[in-house]
Formats: sequence, structure tokens, C-alpha cells
Amino acid sequence: MNVLIKNIGLLVNVRDDNKLLRGYALSSLPCLVNAYIIIKEGSIVEYGEMNEYTNEIKSEKVIDANGCFVLPCWCDSHTHLVFAASREEEFVYKIKGLNYADIAAKGGGILNSANKLNAMQEDALFELALKRLNEVIKLGTGAIEIKSGYGLTVESELKMLRVIQRLKEVATIPVKATFLGAHAYPLQFKNDHEAYIKLIIDEMLPNIAKENLADYIDVFCEQGFFSVDEMKRVCEAAMKYGLKPKLHVNQLNSIGGIKAAIELNALSVDHLETMTENDIEQLAAFNTIGTMLPTAAYFLRMQYPPARKLIDAGCAVSLASDFNPGSSPGGNMNTVVSMSCIQMRMLPEEAINAATINAAFAMELQNEVGSITVGKKANLIFTKQIPSLAYLPYAFGSNLIDKVMINGEFVTEYY
Ligand code: NIG
Ligand code: FE
Repeated sequence: MNVLIKNIGLLVNVRDDNKLLRGYALSSLPCLVNAYIIIKEGSIVEYGEMNEYTNEIKSEKVIDANGCFVLPCWCDSHTHLVFAASREEEFVYKIKGLNYADIAAKGGGILNSANKLNAMQEDALFELALKRLNEVIKLGTGAIEIKSGYGLTVESELKMLRVIQRLKEVATIPVKATFLGAHAYPLQFKNDHEAYIKLIIDEMLPNIAKENLADYIDVFCEQGFFSVDEMKRVCEAAMKYGLKPKLHVNQLNSIGGIKAAIELNALSVDHLETMTENDIEQLAAFNTIGTMLPTAAYFLRMQYPPARKLIDAGCAVSLASDFNPGSSPGGNMNTVVSMSCIQMRMLPEEAINAATINAAFAMELQNEVGSITVGKKANLIFTKQIPSLAYLPYAFGSNLIDKVMINGEFVTEYY
């Protein structure tokens, strides 16, 4: 069945080509005023300006957008959406003055989440994760990456990845899976890092590969977590199974993670709160995408990633939610886009490009989602009546999404 969406006030991010945007190209966001889209079997088959619309393709169903804006859905390329329990007790500790590293050193943080996840059955974990996935889809997310990393044992990492696999099977949006066994050292390996690295390389990775449970490899490269050399070893082992690196680097310290990630030909380097001039220069010279997670910096009261410097230097940047119970307990990409404009001085056009087309590239989903392009999925955000595109990030506290469409179908409450 063909579906015509007519009277779109502004059709945002229309592109004939699929290019990763870097530097000043991020500020160009092609839009059509007063436009239409035709959808067939869940994909975009035609779009254009209303005054050019002809009846050539017959549409069995017509949706009148009544002047609202239509955008490609957000692409969230970095989440930890599978977890057993929230961690608001640590949130209160932080209010009282403890920092992220203090809490981690007390056996809290990631290890706290790992204990809770170990105790939970796969089915229960799946139900919780599915609920979160449906919640973010209603907030406009139309493609997502999800990491393991709260298991930290062979069985529990596999359990998490199997949950992600089941999400892939039932989800209406594309889901990518990342193995993050190197998220933190479990307490019993605190003084024997070598043994845990061996467990990852010799036991976790072969089993994950056997069941084909991951698309990417991630390592939390940070002082007190995994060193640059440890990151390299884990990535090199994973790459033998075809997993490309997408890495946590430069959140708390700059310890050489950017350089090493580039040498590993990483798809993305994520966080980037702490970047030296040298790190920025190196990133600008390569295709590795810099993914910024502003809600994590906000929640942890850290400095934000230097978005302006990264873009002005010519980097390819994207935005993601980092949805996780410890540093970003929410996956609302609308908030991420607003915060990027308000706190990181990204232009609305830059933030929208970074959260759609570039974020699609950061999950290798650029042929399916991320822009209004013939052949891509009709995963679309329909806004309420808004006066301009800049109003979206500006009115940060308002819910400006009227409806979300996935594969050409509106998402309902019962989705
Ligand atoms: O991306 N930085 C490492 N991992 C997560 C936080 C994990 C947690 O605290 O549970 C992050 O912020
Ligand atoms: Fe993260």
C-alpha cells in the first residue's frame, strides 16, 4: 500500500546522497518548505514540494500533516539500555559531594549494576529493556545501539547480549549490539587484570562470536578502568571475529585513547569530555566519528565535550544519549539535541545533523535511516505546530513531538 503524507510545513534533512558530515558541512541542513512524502512498504519512495506533486504514484492512504514539521527519527548510537535496576541512591551520594570515581572505588557504579544484573533472569531483563526501548521510540528514536557491560562474567555478558539479540528480533527499529565486557574490572580481578583480559579474549569473545551476538567491541579506556594497551589487546582480539571498535575514551582523562582508537580504525570514539588540542587535531584528520553524550556530562556535573572546537577543527561528530543507570538515566534524544545547542553551542542544524545522519553513520545504518532519502525507512518524527526549526531545541522543556512513525506506521500507546 502507498501512503501519501501531504502538507508538511517543513520536511527536514532531505538528502539525495549519503555523506558523513564533518566540520562546517554540519551546519547545512537541507529542508523543503510545504512538502510531501510517499511511502511504500515502510520505505520512502518519493518526496518533494507540494506544488510539484503529481498523482503518478497512486496512494491508497493520505495523511494530512497540517503544516507540522517532519524529521527523520533520531539515531541513538550509544546506549546501555539493558540494566536490572536504577541507581538513584548513588545520585543522592553525588548530591552530597561524592564523585563518579569515588563511587566506583567504593564498589558502586558499574559493579553495583553488575551485581544486580547477575541476580536477574534473562526474561525479566528482557521485559525491562523492551519497556525502555518502547519508551525511547515514542520519544522519536528510530535506530539504536545497545551495549553489554553490566555482566562482567562469561554467563552474564552472554545473558545481556542474548537480551539485545531478542530486542533485535522483536524491535521495529534497527538495533546494533556492542560487547563491552571491558567496562570495569570485577572485584575478584581487581589485582589481576591479566586474568580478566584473558577471560574476555579466551572465553567471552569466542562464545559471543559462536552465537553471533555482537556487531561491535567497546572498552572503557580510562584511568582506574582499562589502559590504552589493555584496550588495544581487547580490540585486536575482537577484530579477528569481525567486531569493529566503538570506544569509551576521554571521559575523565586524556590518556592516549583517541590516538589508539584511530590506529584501530575505530568507527567512533565516544564521550570526549576531556580533550587536548592534540586529541582534537588527530580526530579531525580521520574518519573516526566523535560521539558526544551531553546528558552524561550534565548528570555528572562535568565539563561538556568541546563541540565547537571539534566542529571548527573539521571533525565528524554525532550525538547520543548514553542511556544508562549511572550517568545518564534517560534516553530522550530531544533533550540531548537541546542540551547540545544550549550548553555546547551547537547550531540547531548541527545538532540535528549530528543526531540523525551522522549518528546513523556511527552505527553503519546510513543506508537505512538518518535522513529523508528515497529507499530509507519511513522512521519519522511529526512535530506539533512549531514556528521554526530552532524552536525545537529552544523550547527544551516542551514535548514537541506529536506522533512518531516507524516503517510507515504510527506508533501507538500499545506499540
Ligand atoms: O558511558 N563511562 C562508562 N560507562 C557508562 C556509565 C556506566 C555506569 O555508571 O553504569 C557511561 O557513562
Ligand atoms: Fe556509555
